[in-house]
Amino acid sequence: MSGLLRDYSPEALARFEREAAERYEAYKAKGLALNMARGKPSPEQLDLSDPLFNLTRNETGVKSSDGWDCRNYGVPFGLEETRSLFGEIMGVGKENVIVCGCSSLNIMYDYVSQAMTHGIAGGEPWLFCRDRKMIALVPGYDRHFKVAEHFGFDFVCVPMTAEGPDMDQLEAAVKDPAVKGMFCVPKYSNPDGVTFSAETVRRLAAMETGAKDFRVIWDMAYTVHDLYDETDELANVFEVAKEYGTEDRFIAVASTSKITFAGAGLSALATSDANIAEIKKRMAVQIIGHDKINQLKHAYFYRNLDDIKAQMRRHAELLRPKFETVQKILDEELTGLGVAQWSKPKGGYFISLDVTTGSAKYVETLCKDCGVVLTPVGATWPLGKDPEDKNIRLAPSYPSVEEIALAAEIVAVAVKLAACRALREGQTG
Ligand SMILES: Cc1ncc(COP(=O)(O)O)c(C=O)c1O
Repeated sequence: MSGLLRDYSPEALARFEREAAERYEAYKAKGLALNMARGKPSPEQLDLSDPLFNLTRNETGVKSSDGWDCRNYGVPFGLEETRSLFGEIMGVGKENVIVCGCSSLNIMYDYVSQAMTHGIAGGEPWLFCRDRKMIALVPGYDRHFKVAEHFGFDFVCVPMTAEGPDMDQLEAAVKDPAVKGMFCVPKYSNPDGVTFSAETVRRLAAMETGAKDFRVIWDMAYTVHDLYDETDELANVFEVAKEYGTEDRFIAVASTSKITFAGAGLSALATSDANIAEIKKRMAVQIIGHDKINQLKHAYFYRNLDDIKAQMRRHAELLRPKFETVQKILDEELTGLGVAQWSKPKGGYFISLDVTTGSAKYVETLCKDCGVVLTPVGATWPLGKDPEDKNIRLAPSYPSVEEIALAAEIVAVAVKLAACRALREGQTG
C-alpha cells in the first residue's frame, strides 16, 4: 500500500496501524537504552584529539610565538596564534578576535549579562527596559532561549525558512525598540541545518532596528562542521555589514567543542573594533587571563584553517554514516505517507523532524517507552513550548551506527503510530 496515509481506507489504515504496533512491541521487548537527545561528539570523535591531551611540555614548550610564558598570568585576550586561528575560522583579522575559556555559550551569556547591567555602547542597561524582548528563531537552540529566559526577556518568534529567518517578519519585528537582539546559528543551524543565504545575511546587516543597541549573537558553532566535500557557503557578515555601517551589530562566537574536546577546548568571539574595545575593558576587570596552556596545545596541532579542515574531515568520516543511516531509514519508512518532513543537512549536528501537528510529544513518549531518549519535545521553542507540538530534534552523533539504525527505526514506527492516532482523532497536518 502506498500513498498518503490520510487517503487510506479505514480497513487499510487499521492494518497499517496493526503492523506498526506489532513492530513497536517487538522493539519494546528488546529492552533498549538508546540516546539521541544531545549533540555530543562520540567517543571515537573525541579519540581524534587524544594527542592533544597527551602532549608534553617538551613538545609544546612553554612560550607563545611572541615570547609569553604561558604558565604565568597575562595575555588576557588570547595568544597571537590562537587569535589568528579563530580569525581564519571566523573570517576576521586577529585584532578583532578575543580567545576566551572553554565555552562559547559562556561568552554569549556573559555578553547578555553585561548588556543587562552596564548597557552597550553608551546605551542604558537592558535591565531598565521593562518589556525587553528577544527574537526567537524557531525552531532554534534551547540553550540560546534559556539565556534570554534567564534575563527576563519575552520572545518574538520568527520562523526559519530554507534561507534562514523569515526576513519580512524579522524586519517588521525589530522596529520595536524593546526588541534588543537575537541569537542565531547562521551555518548549519540548530536544529534544522539551514545556512543563511547571502540575501538573508545582507538583509540582517541592512535592516533598520528600533533599538540602537540591537545585537545579533552570530553563533558560528558549526561553521567548519561540514559532512561533505560540497559544503554550504556562508557570506562573511562583517564584510557585508561594513557596507551598511552596522559592524557593531554582530557579535560572533565559536569554539572547538566539536573540533577537539567538548567543553574542554577553546572558545572565541569576533566583532567590530568598537565592540572589541568595549569588551576588553570589561574583561580586564573580569579575568587576569584565560587558560593559555590549552591555547598553546591547540596552536601546536592546529596552525591554520587547513589543519582544522583536515580534522573536520576526520570527524565527517565518523558522522556521515550516522546521518545517512537516519536519512535512509526515514526515507524508506516515511516517504510519501504525508506524515513527516525532515531536514537533510550538509553539516552540523542535527536533523529536524516535523511530524503530524499535535503528535510530537506522543512520539517522544512512544520512543521513551521503547528505550529511545529524544531531545525533549518543545526544546526547540522558547519556554519549551512548541505551539503546534510537531518539531523533534534528532541528534545522531553520539550512538554507534547500529544503535542509530535501531533508534531511527523506532522513531519511524512511533511517527506512524502517532499519525494513525491523529487520523483516528480527526487531526490533520
Ligand atoms: C548552536 C550551539 N551553540 C553553542 C553550543 C555550545 O558550545 P560550547 O561548548 O562552546 O559552549 C552548542 C552545543 O551544542 C550549540 O549547538
